[in-house]
Amino acid sequence: MLKRSILVALFVLFGNLTNADAQPMRDATRGELLYSTHCIACHSTQVHWRDKKLVTNWTSLRTEVGRWQKSAGLGWGDDDVAAVTRYLNALYYHYPTTD
Ligand code: HEC
Repeated sequence: MLKRSILVALFVLFGNLTNADAQPMRDATRGELLYSTHCIACHSTQVHWRDKKLVTNWTSLRTEVGRWQKSAGLGWGDDDVAAVTRYLNALYYHYPTTD
């Protein structure tokens, strides 16, 4: 019974991963996952709406995400940086996207 549930869980998980590739929400979900796994521990949401913010547009947001993943030693590719940038932009910044 337990074995079966594990199999079902794995199936659902991998099924979702492959499906997710075809979905437009993929980036938002992936960005959210990456951000909440690697980044959120350190800064509260306040970081993203403080007055003295470093981020003033899409490009600088992307730069900051790239900088932070690098300093955390995560080795994200462009896709991951873009996904997290899109996620943060959708949630807090609302800049027009340029890529
Ligand atoms: C070691 C703690 C720490 C970790 C880990 C961390 N951050 Fe930060 N982050 C900060 C602090 C502190 C600031 C504000 C200080 C500053 O301006 O440099 C900041 C600022 C930022 C900003 C700029 C916010 C603004 O509007 O000015 C972005 C974007 C950001 N972080 C993204 C990320 C992402 C993406 C990750 C995960 C890859 C991450 N951070 C991981 C501590 C952290």
